[in-house]
Amino acid sequence: MTEDIKRKINELRKEIKKHNDLYYTRGVPVISDGKYDALMAELKKLEEAHPGYASADSPTMTVGAPVPQKFVKVKHTSPMLSLESVNDEKGAEHFNETCVKETGKAVDYICEPKLDGISIELVYDNGRFTSGSTRGDGVIGEDVTLNLKTIPSVPEKLKVKTPPRRIAVRGEVMMHITDFQGLNKKRAEEGQDLFANPRNVAAGSMRQLDWRVTAGRKLHVYCYRILDYSEKWPDSQEDALKLLKELGFQTAPNIKHSKDISAAISYHHLMEEKRDDLDYEIDGVVVKVNNFRDQERLGMRTQNPKWAVAYKFKAHKEVTRIENIAIQVGRTGVLTPLALLKPVEVSGVTVARATLHNMDQVEKLGVKIGDYVKVERAGDVIPYISEVVKEKRTGREKTFHMPKKCPSCGTPVEREDVFYRCPAGLACPAQLKEAIAHYVSKAAVDIDGFSDKTVELLFEMGLIKSIADIYKLKREELLGLEGFKEKKTDNLLGAIENAKDIALDRFIYGLGIRNVGRHIAALLAKRFGTLENLIEADKDELTGINEIGPEIADCIVDFFGAKKNLEEIEKLKANGVIIKKKEKTAKGKFAGKKVVFTGSLETISRSQAKKLVEEEGGEASSGISSNVDFVVAGEKAGSKLEKAKKLGIKVLTEQEFQNLIK
Ligand code: IVH
Repeated sequence: MTEDIKRKINELRKEIKKHNDLYYTRGVPVISDGKYDALMAELKKLEEAHPGYASADSPTMTVGAPVPQKFVKVKHTSPMLSLESVNDEKGAEHFNETCVKETGKAVDYICEPKLDGISIELVYDNGRFTSGSTRGDGVIGEDVTLNLKTIPSVPEKLKVKTPPRRIAVRGEVMMHITDFQGLNKKRAEEGQDLFANPRNVAAGSMRQLDWRVTAGRKLHVYCYRILDYSEKWPDSQEDALKLLKELGFQTAPNIKHSKDISAAISYHHLMEEKRDDLDYEIDGVVVKVNNFRDQERLGMRTQNPKWAVAYKFKAHKEVTRIENIAIQVGRTGVLTPLALLKPVEVSGVTVARATLHNMDQVEKLGVKIGDYVKVERAGDVIPYISEVVKEKRTGREKTFHMPKKCPSCGTPVEREDVFYRCPAGLACPAQLKEAIAHYVSKAAVDIDGFSDKTVELLFEMGLIKSIADIYKLKREELLGLEGFKEKKTDNLLGAIENAKDIALDRFIYGLGIRNVGRHIAALLAKRFGTLENLIEADKDELTGINEIGPEIADCIVDFFGAKKNLEEIEKLKANGVIIKKKEKTAKGKFAGKKVVFTGSLETISRSQAKKLVEEEGGEASSGISSNVDFVVAGEKAGSKLEKAKKLGIKVLTEQEFQNLIK
């Protein structure tokens, strides 16, 4: 009996860990949240009933742990100091002179990129990650272990046979620029507020009380320093970095050993040139005395070490004045404060406006109208206001308040967390205009030549008052409008006519339902096949779809529950729009078939395999039921394979699947 319980607990732990890996590390969940929660609940119940089998390694103790109410404070291994900065060659040479003088000899350096992220400390006891913390005030930080556990480059276990009894390391949490852009693109599609820069995402992700939010962000940790080590210390920073790598930590790319300060200066110039080509943000290079004995001889100041210096790049940063703060009303009714700036050139681009995101950000920065502010740009990331230059205040600056009424339609504004929202929906001209621009956009119905400027013009001229009006535009109305000669008019009318047959997923996306981006729209189209089926779907049916949670389901139900929206859809149809059914019997080798993958695949990733099935007209599903047509069984296929066999479903090996798809 006890053996049975032990086996069951181990099986559950293994199964949950596998799903954690699929979900958090690889981003390809294969079971629904509900099923995952059920596995976790079963394990918890068994562990509570049999405390003798408790283990710190159990998923119930790690990422599966309940969300804490606040962060616990932790004292750092040693104070997390910062670095002294120099801005030019003279500063770097002066640093070298001090090093030479105080060690009594020439010194060599390790030059590293100065990563612009969030500084953290990681502690490993007997090879296992036990605690991770933010910098805090340098002495006491906050325990963010659960958040750090979700980052693939933070090893759960050190990758050596005999791990050190204890090691504490310091590193930087970063988000790559391409991932940052992807995240913001997705948020924009879903009508969510955008992040200002990758560093803010990294900082915000560490401050998340719910590690599941952090897990959804693609973060990296690059380590650069050993703080504490129970074994024989390496002799130099070069060896320390090697050791970090051997233990399984990630170190920054582009690190260089420089034999003297001239080589370090050349490295700085090279990296400054390379800076905009990198996929992560750096704001300088860190020049560190290589030999640890030399580092010891040089010692510390109160706030920073004497053996290293941050050799900064020229800032992509300028100071300018906020002339006013305007309000933008977005497609979903969110009011966004927009700083109107005295135009300023920041590394080759003229910046005249910058979003302030929301009132939280306005308060955090402490900006007032009339303030001088620093405007920053990094790589090709959008410019943002990083701080107020308080010394330049005259006392005439004005505090900014969110309007109580929508500036576009006058409806009283409602507050939802950090957002202020106009609830008028399509009755609000600003939202209607944005909704029309969204409907005609490339990713939605894609009406060629229907630019935002055209939407603005037609709207201002009163020619379109709803989305459906697009299809009633007349040649004589357009001709004569600014910029509308015969050719442009005919092209636009032709494009509108051509875009009357609309694929269901594009149409759903084009409706601009809150929280329904392209991906969710595609899922809905696939599941429901017709718009009518989707309109009738209730919350239970919607949440039954993998990836659709209660929040998205509510938005969909609310949207189709509003009479005005249904009337608009009817008007579109009456004006000639044909919404194409999503054919379940599409063409392809898996046309109309449901395929389930189980076990681990050797030659292809699970997500690639699913994509192949979809490209061939099939549906990749995760649960076994009688309407599944094929099960592809990889290595160690477990209960799903058993169930499939019982139900008489055709089972394919990975090789047979590959042969079929060829
Ligand atoms: S070494 C004793 N190396 O820069 C200080 N720091 O202003 C040891 N940083 O708070 C720091 N990249 O967050 C070091 N390669 C690197 C770094 C780096 C970025 C950050 C770190 C620190 C700040 C210092």
